[in-house]
Amino acid sequence: MHMRKKKWARPELAACGWYTADGESRRGRWRQWFSHPERPLHLEMGCGKGVSTAAMAADHPEINYVAADLSADVLGCARRNAAALCGENPENLRLLETDICFIGRVFAPEDGAERIYISFCNPWTEHPKHAKRRLTHPRQLAQYRSFLKEGGEIWFKTDDDTLFQDSLVYLDLWGFDPVYLTHDLAASGFAPNYISEHEKKYMEAGVPIKFGIFRMRPEGPAGDPTRYRLTPGVREEALKRLDRDLA
Ligand SMILES: C[S@@+](CC[C@H](N)C(=O)[O-])C[C@H]1O[C@@H](n2cnc3c(N)ncnc32)[C@H](O)[C@@H]1O
Repeated sequence: MHMRKKKWARPELAACGWYTADGESRRGRWRQWFSHPERPLHLEMGCGKGVSTAAMAADHPEINYVAADLSADVLGCARRNAAALCGENPENLRLLETDICFIGRVFAPEDGAERIYISFCNPWTEHPKHAKRRLTHPRQLAQYRSFLKEGGEIWFKTDDDTLFQDSLVYLDLWGFDPVYLTHDLAASGFAPNYISEHEKKYMEAGVPIKFGIFRMRPEGPAGDPTRYRLTPGVREEALKRLDRDLA
């Protein structure tokens, strides 16, 4: 979705002590940026305007959050949304401007995150060769594995059936077990559910939201994730097996 340029976003972010566009300089030391480094660290990949982020951070002062996005314009909105709910200087929230495709340069194993949120990332379904840009593609999962703690989780939501199914396969192959799955989040009764800007839009249009929680297995996956391409055979076989396992 294209958003009109927000002239105020850059100056407001530049004046914000809990925003950075230089995540690489904090690599391995993210926890020390919070007043309580020992608290759980939850990361949001592609936070957009931070509607759900702000609500989570306000409800959970005992958790440290880093919300990442590529766009300064949306991060400017996220800053305002968070300031409205958590105050001008939230102790437990940091905003990060970065390209998540290279997130392994920003977080290190020592950062040890407990959880990653990915909500309504671009599905990249138009051409198979674009699938590697998905935030759930193996080349991303391999990076997330490097800085998630053992037993760490990915919480993934989307409106898109193809992206969801493909992601189930990617996650299975790259060492994440589903511990919760629903094809209709609103009807599932899962709580608390923090509704993001895009989620609200799809819910209003009557599109069921697909959601899963995936826990990292200790053993790493085999193979090169960077060019991984899901073939129809592997996809069908893996989906059948997952259906059987989850039945
Ligand atoms: C469809 S929006 C979803 C925003 C929010 N999570 C929600 O559910 O409302 C996707 C967001 O991901 C961000 N994004 C897409 N690719 C990215 C990348 N490679 N690195 C960082 N952010 C990215 C976009 O800028 C956009 O804000």
